[in-house]
Amino acid sequence: MNDISPDLTTMDVPHGREPTNDLWEAMFSQRAIRYWQDRSVPRELLEKVVMAGSKAPSGSNLQPWVFVIVDERPKIHAVGEAMRQRIGESEGIQQLIAEGKSSEDKSWRLIMRGAEAFFNQLAKAPALIVPCLYQLTSPTNDPTTLHAGSSIYLAVQNMLLAARALGLGTVMTTAHSGVEDVLRAELNLPDDAHPVALIPIGYPDANFGETRRKPPSEILRFNSW
Ligand SMILES: Cc1cc2nc3c(=O)[nH]c(=O)nc-3n(C[C@H](O)[C@H](O)[C@H](O)COP(=O)(O)O)c2cc1C
Repeated sequence: MNDISPDLTTMDVPHGREPTNDLWEAMFSQRAIRYWQDRSVPRELLEKVVMAGSKAPSGSNLQPWVFVIVDERPKIHAVGEAMRQRIGESEGIQQLIAEGKSSEDKSWRLIMRGAEAFFNQLAKAPALIVPCLYQLTSPTNDPTTLHAGSSIYLAVQNMLLAARALGLGTVMTTAHSGVEDVLRAELNLPDDAHPVALIPIGYPDANFGETRRKPPSEILRFNSW
């Protein structure tokens, strides 16, 4: 058994909606937020979030990305409604959510409740960020691979943290794949741009706070598995 300090498992982070410039506090309290106040986010802040994303590393520093910010209500509504409708029509997903919500496992119950909230709330998000792989050549030119993701998901996490720092709530999702046709049409995405996530963002109507994660004893090894 590895000797890992229990102090590293949690950090005393405040619950609430305040911005923070403390990186540790941001990392330890950046919860998935799926409820937003009915209040628009100044473009200046959305741009700041994307600029933080653009500081992430990428293969050969080629920065194979374009980030589309969506802050026009009709477009957000079109994407959100398409999501709600399609998820509503999917018997498999509805069954998964129903089973999950009555599961014995509290974490699974919370995740499934959260997933349902996301599908229902998306149309109300004040803005969306859609990171797209574009002109990808390093470390691969196949946008469907894990290696392709490695050149853009660091930017995504930078954006989630930057949003948290600014007191903005986000949830990282890959649910874009279910509405990719609508995204492409609404956002005029060229064929060679590949959306990799759909990130709603806004002033939170839920609190930031401690996240539940596996303890170091389960996930950390020194020198040998
Ligand atoms: C790859 C990926 C896909 C996700 N897809 C969804 C999604 O479709 N819907 C949703 O509500 N949340 C989605 N999430 C958010 C996760 O459920 C959330 O980050 C996780 O439960 C941890 O939540 P917490 O940070 O509040 O503890 C996704 C997260 C990741 C990293």
